[in-house]
Amino acid sequence: MKIRSHNVSAVDIGTTKTCALIAEIDWENKIPIIKGYGVVDTKGIKNGTVVNIEEVSETISKASNIAEEMADTSISSCYAGIGGDHIRSMNTQGMIAISRDARTGLGEAREIEQDDIDRVIEHTKAIPLPVDRQILHVMPQEFIVDEQSGIRNPINLLGRRLEVKVHLTTYSTTVTSNLLRCFKNANLSIDGFVLQAFASSYGVLTANEKEYGAILIDIGSGTLDIIVLRNSGIYHTGVVNFGAQLVTSDIAYLLRIPPESAEKIKISQGCAFAGMVDKEAFFKIERSGNRPAREIPIARLAQYIEPRMEELLHEAFMEAKKADIPLSNIPFLVLTGGGSLIRGSEELAESIFKIPCRIGNPIGFKGYEEELNNPMYAAAIGMLKYAIDDNILQKSVQKTSQGWLSKTLGWIKNLTEIM
Ligand SMILES: Nc1ncnc2c1ncn2[C@@H]1O[C@H](COP(=O)(O)OP(=O)(O)OP(=O)(O)O)[C@@H](O)[C@H]1O
Ligand SMILES: [Mg+2]
Repeated sequence: MKIRSHNVSAVDIGTTKTCALIAEIDWENKIPIIKGYGVVDTKGIKNGTVVNIEEVSETISKASNIAEEMADTSISSCYAGIGGDHIRSMNTQGMIAISRDARTGLGEAREIEQDDIDRVIEHTKAIPLPVDRQILHVMPQEFIVDEQSGIRNPINLLGRRLEVKVHLTTYSTTVTSNLLRCFKNANLSIDGFVLQAFASSYGVLTANEKEYGAILIDIGSGTLDIIVLRNSGIYHTGVVNFGAQLVTSDIAYLLRIPPESAEKIKISQGCAFAGMVDKEAFFKIERSGNRPAREIPIARLAQYIEPRMEELLHEAFMEAKKADIPLSNIPFLVLTGGGSLIRGSEELAESIFKIPCRIGNPIGFKGYEEELNNPMYAAAIGMLKYAIDDNILQKSVQKTSQGWLSKTLGWIKNLTEIM
């Protein structure tokens, strides 16, 4: 089969950095091949929410212009990450009769078609929502055909009744209207919003982890994005409204140094697990004039960092516990996001979650692998991988006229047009 290529772009606006990616898609292998990337410091975002429209618009423009120049192409639309504590999530379900008998309510069993899946998923959306809330993702966990549960794909199965359990996320339209305005100012329309935690799971998790069960925590600068998966379905998504920036501000405060120096020290000398550091080791902080440099024990720095990282991970743990499944059934814990790079974070997380932990770098992409091989890019690369599924789904649902995805995309287009 010939490889068909098609450009897809993604923009992940983080609290500290914004990453724009342009990729060609290798449809045969379902892999994004990155042609250009732009990473710039973010201005105008606080805890995942726009606080300054002009600054965010300029941030998006800068990042996408750099990516466009590198890829030698221009883009007019992109997938965009969405996060922040305005996101709400819930597990819910829907049920439909596959065939109806006027007398008994249920008719003869027949083969389940895509249209039935679309209908039952549509049913799950029939929940009362405040006027300023919209549905972001509806993620199927399992289908139940008659009495048979645990079905991932019910197509062509015979049944009378189809049920689906889903994880549903909603967002505040006020918050997204601001975000949409920023993209519009940067001359970009939105192909789709992707929940940041969901994007990161696409970016770093292996098929085995999704299947057997994983908790993924994206430790960003201003937020922690948490997602719990099992049987390749999503059981919980959540956001904690603070992140690794707090570690930097603690260091700045406790060592009485500017945040920029604290950031450098955190990256070069920091450790989140005090038990791991050499008790004899020191690092130096230069002083102005001819005064001798300050010598700080690395163990002391670790004692400053550990309680804050413990607090962050404990909050993530409490969030993960809201999943409808016991965490004792989850065999994998994965940390990603820039904040996971602090030495000792795996060990500390293991001690809190009591689950073996690894750091998740982005996987399953080509082009600039070395440059983008960093947990900071988990969400951005994940968005491209989500886009591949999205496009495939989009085409398959287009065939069956009005699929649930085309409807989901419909509201994004409507919203864009309103702006
Ligand atoms: N090598 C490193 N060691 C320790 N910390 C690091 C390292 N590299 C980056 N960080 C930290 O990671 C954080 C930035 O991570 P990331 O880029 O994932 O955040 P973001 O996406 O901008 O923010 P958010 O997702 O919260 O909106 C910063 O706090 C930074 O100090
Ligand atoms: Mg981030």
